[in-house]
This record gives sequence, structure tokens and C-alpha cells, in this order.
Amino acid sequence: MANAPSDWHRLSWRERETLQQPSYPDRQRVEEVFEHLASLPPLVTSWEIETLRDQLAEAALGNRFLLQGGDCAERFDECNPDFITSKLKILLQMSLVLVHGGGRRITRVGRFAGQYAKPRSANDEVRDGVTLPSYRGDNVNRPEFTPEHRVPDPERLLRGHEYSALTLNFIRALIDGGFADLHHPEYWNLEFVEHSPLRAEYERMVESIGDSLRFMETVVGAQAGQINRVDFFTSHEALLLLHESAMTRSVPRRTGWWNLGTHMPWLGVRTAEPDGGHVEYLRGIRNPLGLKVGPSSDLDKLVKVLDILDPDDQPGRITLIHRFGASNVSTYLPALIDRIKDTGRTLLFSCDPMHGNTETVKMMKGPGAGRQVKTRKFGHILAELEQSFEIHQRAGTILGGVHFELTGDQVTECTGGARGLEDDDLATSYRSHVDPRLNYEQSLEMAMLIAGRMARGKA
Ligand code: PEP
Ligand code: CO
Repeated sequence: MANAPSDWHRLSWRERETLQQPSYPDRQRVEEVFEHLASLPPLVTSWEIETLRDQLAEAALGNRFLLQGGDCAERFDECNPDFITSKLKILLQMSLVLVHGGGRRITRVGRFAGQYAKPRSANDEVRDGVTLPSYRGDNVNRPEFTPEHRVPDPERLLRGHEYSALTLNFIRALIDGGFADLHHPEYWNLEFVEHSPLRAEYERMVESIGDSLRFMETVVGAQAGQINRVDFFTSHEALLLLHESAMTRSVPRRTGWWNLGTHMPWLGVRTAEPDGGHVEYLRGIRNPLGLKVGPSSDLDKLVKVLDILDPDDQPGRITLIHRFGASNVSTYLPALIDRIKDTGRTLLFSCDPMHGNTETVKMMKGPGAGRQVKTRKFGHILAELEQSFEIHQRAGTILGGVHFELTGDQVTECTGGARGLEDDDLATSYRSHVDPRLNYEQSLEMAMLIAGRMARGKA
């Protein structure tokens, strides 16, 4: 589908019911912000987007593996070099571990440079009898519970575009500079392995990754960063359609329309209505699309959405990101796979083992004592992944990717892992305002466990 459908334009979604949009008090200003955003330079290019689409097509056939990860929601005040570097570092290290284990090339897609908008289950939040609009991500409002902070402010879309550009600019510079010295053992913070029964296996893995890098350099006579330029692509949920349409551009000498605000927008579970604004918007752009599927997804509707978004079954166009939860995946995933098989489509399956495994607990200790927070258990996340690999293998389909909410920092938001974090440890460094993320150690350990499984030929 090179050309957009003739009845589509970048604002045609406005003729449909569109869920999860903020109610801005000043509509006039919203239109001005749209015009301003639409006039600004984009963040990515159409040829990068095509490269990603080609790589995702390879992953669908089992010749590559997709690693997608980053914050549930980025924060404007975390747009700083330390956060960005540590996020890039953990994604890069996870990908090296996965290459090592799986022998497949890895495509790295960050949930970054624009993941500033969140769908919410409730429009309002009530605290101590006070009702205010929910926090919908930094592109919309602020998390502090006051009327001034929660009112949706269109100016934030402009700030969000600037922060996305700053983030991506720094990421591109880091990548061009060879990024980081992967050879130094101290660059790999492996203290946590002391607590793991798999310690010897982990140490061997890192050692042998170092050996492969050194070997490549000796053979090619260049630094690893130059031999094999690592690419990072960007992704975020295509939620605020005004923002997405302002980033939607046509490109000289190419047909069709592209969202040049990110390489890979995705459609969330809450907005996947076949007749709704989000599907209407996404059908007209040429980017590869993520599609979240959960226990609440209706498979008939999903098939309709696929017919609308990918009428030609184009390789790489759709990545189906399933997120059922460890206790549900064995019921829901086989049915999903059967249904997709019936359609005859080849699409990329990826597993998001985070969103189906969220629990709420009360923090008992520390400054936040008494506060309810969301958390996830490392064991549940791993269990959903392991079951997903097995279910796909039994069905003769391929699990070609994983999708994590993670950070390169030492937060305490998910429990478990080699260090054995418990509910009582959550207060130590709980920073997320939305979903809980795997921290540096938990992310690396998760990659090592998946890689170990791949290397044993089970995946
Ligand atoms: C998310 O990825 O943060 C998200 C909201 O996902 P889902 O639509 O799967 O709930
Ligand atoms: Co989330």
C-alpha cells in the first residue's frame, strides 16, 4: 500500500470517535500548536523507517530478533545525558547477550524519544475526596495532584517534541561515536550475579561476548563500534492523534504518508477499535506498526483491524505484541495464534511480558509507606516469556521479539531477580508514575535467561 487510501487524510480520524484524547480547555490554542508542530522538522526519515520495516519482515521469518524496550512513560525532567546513556547501555548489552544466545541479528527499538503520552483506565483520579483529571503523560499534563498540574496544556506537545529531538540527537551522537567501550568488564555491572545460581554461566557469557568483540577487531582491524554500526530505532504509542498527525508528512520522490515523529508507532489495547480514530489514522501511514493484544482484545475485531491496517499482508508492516500475563497466556495465546493462522497472514509475533503481570501492593516501609503502587514479579515476567516461546514452538509459529518496560537505572519497581527484591524493598527507589520497570540488573538477567534458553536451542 504505497499510496494512502483515497478517502484518508492525516486528520480524517477527526470524523471518528477517538478515545483517550485530553480535554483541552483552550481549543484555539490546540489548533495553533498543531500548525506549529506540523511546520517543525521531523525526527526521523522515511528511509530509516523502510530499513526497520525490512528488518521486522526478516524477524517475522525467524532470521532476526526484535528487542523493544524503555520506559512505560518518559519524563521531561529525565531528559538528561545520564538517563539516556544508561538506557542505551542496557538495551545494547541486552542485545549483545541475545545475539550471543540466539545467533540471530537483533533489531533494537527503544520506547524513547517520544513516549510521553499514556492511555488511562479512568479519566479522573480521586484522592481524599478530591477529583482531578488523570495524569496522561508529560505531553499532556503533570503527575502532581493539583488542579494546575493536571489541567491538559497543549504547549506541552511542543516541549515534548523538543525533548524528543534532544533525546534522539544525543542517541545518534552516541551511536556515531562508537558509544561505549564494551570490552571493559567494569562496564558490565555484574555484581548481581553473585546472588545467582547461574553465576558461572553469566560470567562465561560476558567473557565470550568480550572475546567475540576482540576477535572481530583483530580480524577487521577496527573498533567494534565501527565494524558493526549499531542502529537504534524509536517507538512510542500513537495515542495523541493531533501530535501524530502533525508529524505525518509526505516525502519528496516517495509516495504515501509517513509518521516522521517515530519509526514505529504502536496501537494500544485501549484504542484498538476498528471504527475508531486511532485505526483510521494508522491505516494511512507507511510506518511499520505495533499492535498490542491482551486478554480483553476481541479476536474478531483484531482481524478487522488487521484487514484495515494491512490489507496487502505486507512483510514487516505489523508486529503483534501479545501481553496476556503469566497465568493467562496458555489460554489466550494458542487461540490468538490459531486465529492468525486462519487469516494466512505472516506477521511478527513479539511478547510483552510486562502489561499482563501488573499487581498493586501497599508500600509498608520508607517515605512512601501506605501508598499503593503497581509492581510486577520477575518470575511472572519470565514465566510469560518462557510459556510464549513454548506455545509458539508447538504451534509452528515464531516468537520473533520481546517488549520490555525497563530502565538502565537501579530503581526498585519490580520484585524478584537474582538480588531477590521484595515488596518491602519497593520504597527504596520507586520512581515510576505509571508502570513499574525492570531495573538494570533485572533487565540484564532477563536477557541472559532468554539467551541461555535460545542457546540451548529451545527458542
Ligand atoms: C504500554 O505499553 O505502556 C501500554 C499502555 O500497553 P497496553 O496498551 O498493552 O496496555
Ligand atoms: Co506501561
